[in-house]
Amino acid sequence: MTQVPICDVSELPPGERKIVELDGNSIGVFNIEGNYYAASNKCPHAGGPVCTGRVGHELLAEFTGVGLRVKEYFGPNIVLACPWHGWEFNLETGAHLGDSKITLPLYEVTVQDNKIFVEI
Ligand code: FES
Repeated sequence: MTQVPICDVSELPPGERKIVELDGNSIGVFNIEGNYYAASNKCPHAGGPVCTGRVGHELLAEFTGVGLRVKEYFGPNIVLACPWHGWEFNLETGAHLGDSKITLPLYEVTVQDNKIFVEI
């Protein structure tokens, strides 16, 4: 495993992302609320640029019956949605929200001396 420098911390503020090429792989590096994540930018569905999709807290709901939604709220999980067909992945585990057997490869992110590194 090799730690590859991505950028200074100041270049990736909360809410921002960078798409980088590392060792022939496109990887998305995210700063979400001060926490860093890195994921493969190749969606396991059909290879779409998943890391360019919407990212945010998982939307949850309570139902009293089919189609009877009584409450919506955002949960603690951070979710990345692929822009091609909408598959959603937990950015902390890589698991697909609907089928945990499908995973998006993740990478370890570290910060040293105000620099962000991804381990490949
Ligand atoms: S390619 Fe990502 S959901 Fe289809």
